Amino acid sequence: MPLIIRSRADDDLDALVSVLAESHRTDRYPLMGEHVRAAWLIEKGSPAWVAELDGVVVGHAAVAGNPTEPLELTRLVVSSAARGHGVAAALLDVVERHAASAGSSLFLEVLEHNSAAMRLYERRGWLAASSAEVDWFGPDGPRPVMRRYVKP
Ligand SMILES: CC(C)(COP(=O)(O)OP(=O)(O)OC[C@H]1O[C@@H](n2cnc3c(N)ncnc32)[C@H](O)[C@@H]1OP(=O)(O)O)[C@@H](O)C(=O)NCCC(=O)NCCS
Repeated sequence: MPLIIRSRADDDLDALVSVLAESHRTDRYPLMGEHVRAAWLIEKGSPAWVAELDGVVVGHAAVAGNPTEPLELTRLVVSSAARGHGVAAALLDVVERHAASAGSSLFLEVLEHNSAAMRLYERRGWLAASSAEVDWFGPDGPRPVMRRYVKP
């Protein structure tokens, strides 16, 4: 069955929280355990898309913000079993098309331990704009370093 990218529906949220729980364990994304919940996925607004492979929800991406300003790519995650097959790339294709059709540029923020994500963004032409310690402490103590990327 082909990879399908479609709009997120409410009944995708349970599957997506399982994907998040796994990603929290393996990649510290999200960094905070309390963010492994549906409310964290939806709090940034919409639109949002899921990737479905063989009928199973394996990935998610969302866009936040007002189209009169740069839009934020957020909540990008793919389940471990589905990685390395272009699922995130397909989600980003849809996100980037959405921004282009809204006439908006994109930005995102990523913690620097999420190196696979940074490789993906750089390969697709996103530009690192700034990098700085955040003003909060991570669960392991030190302040994580957040990098901001822009897609002109
Ligand atoms: C970052 C993340 C979303 C990437 O998802 P993914 O679906 O594996 O991404 P892709 O498949 O598009 O690309 C991943 C790799 O597979 C390779 N790839 C893509 N399609 C491929 C194909 N058909 N055949 C072989 N390799 C392929 C890519 O070149 C890339 O290689 P790299 O790791 O050497 O850079 C995923 O690793 C993830 O969920 N990480 C944790 C959450 C996270 O960090 N989110 C970002 C927060 S800002």
